[in-house]
Amino acid sequence: MRCKITNEKINPFMSFGRMPIANGFINEKNFKKEFFFNLEVGFSKKISLFQLNNHPKPKQMFNQNYPFFSGSSKGMIKHFKNFSKWIKKKYGKNLKNLIDIGSNDGTFLNNFKNNKINVIGFEPSKNVAQVSKKRGIKTINKFFNYQNVKKFKSLKKKIDIISAANAICHIPNLKSLIKGLDYLLKDDGLFIFEEPYLGSMYEKTSYDQIYDEHIFMFSVSSIKKIFNLFGFELINAIPQKTHGGSMRYVVSRINKRKINQNVKKIIRFEKKKNVDNFEGCIKFKKNCEKSKEKLLMKIKKLKNKNKKIVGYAATSKSTTILNYCNIGKDSIDYICDTTKEKIGKYSPGKHIPIKSMNHFYNNPPDVAFLFAWNHKKEIFKKEKKFSQKGDWIAHVKL
Ligand code: TYD
Repeated sequence: MRCKITNEKINPFMSFGRMPIANGFINEKNFKKEFFFNLEVGFSKKISLFQLNNHPKPKQMFNQNYPFFSGSSKGMIKHFKNFSKWIKKKYGKNLKNLIDIGSNDGTFLNNFKNNKINVIGFEPSKNVAQVSKKRGIKTINKFFNYQNVKKFKSLKKKIDIISAANAICHIPNLKSLIKGLDYLLKDDGLFIFEEPYLGSMYEKTSYDQIYDEHIFMFSVSSIKKIFNLFGFELINAIPQKTHGGSMRYVVSRINKRKINQNVKKIIRFEKKKNVDNFEGCIKFKKNCEKSKEKLLMKIKKLKNKNKKIVGYAATSKSTTILNYCNIGKDSIDYICDTTKEKIGKYSPGKHIPIKSMNHFYNNPPDVAFLFAWNHKKEIFKKEKKFSQKGDWIAHVKL
């Protein structure tokens, strides 16, 4: 295995086994054609970068059938509103042109509509891009990379801010992405993006963050090192609560802006907690194995007591849990979800049926496995009735 940035040789340190596409919710007629790959991870010591080994081709993951909609969670709608407010407050004075990478259904860009700011979204998945276009948001249905970006000559060095949320870790060719940023950004332009945080994944042993789409799990140390290789620097890092622990990064060209103290502070924390080195990987691997054992034991005990268990929210993350721990229909009767594109299909790999929320209310289980544990607050608030009788479990602490 080679580092996707430095090309140095690295050894995968852990495999999660044979894995399907995390968002590959599937119809029964396609079970036999299902695509699997070996989900393995490695760590570049040079740039502290946690990454997948093999991964499916981007077009296999982001196409006309991509079933994830940013607007499917109230919490995320609120978060994107606050994110846009933060950008406007901090950098809004001269903000004229903003591009969002992986703009999905336009939930984030929608917040700039009445601000006389030109916004453009890059979104490769056709179905979600269409939702964004219908909202009146200029959306380019293409991957954000140098090859595609350089066709927009009129935008060269014209963009004040390029933003992204939960998108950059999905892009295997980061070099091409950064070349694209360099092409578009003004001399003092900024790249502001949020990603799930490696430090939080270690702390919670939330290994379900690892799946085909998450090619990288970033830390402040890795982002600093990556961007330094290409004439950019990290000028701020701000922890976020989203996705079970994320980090907001602000990047500019070298020597253009003051570096916030946060960067130094978090890097010191990462050294202390082994987030920037290989020791952290080995500890994480052991913790994953322990977590798997504990979860299987918990499910076995419940099944011995004849408890009915169902999954709550057919998240992409749940694909890793179910396939890594080998949990199937014999343990989990169905998974309920709000997304109409998923209902009626089956979970990737384990083929557990996906049902509507009405089905959940009409056929309540004894125990609900909360796969969307990162939306716990929102879900517990609306499922008070179920909580009176039923129990919640998860593979992480709730
Ligand atoms: P999320 O954790 O945001 O994403 P991921 O798929 O990347 O792991 O979960 C999104 C899924 O959870 C989506 O299928 C909708 C579902 N969901 C519900 O069914 N009910 C809810 O209340 C919430 C918040 C999400």
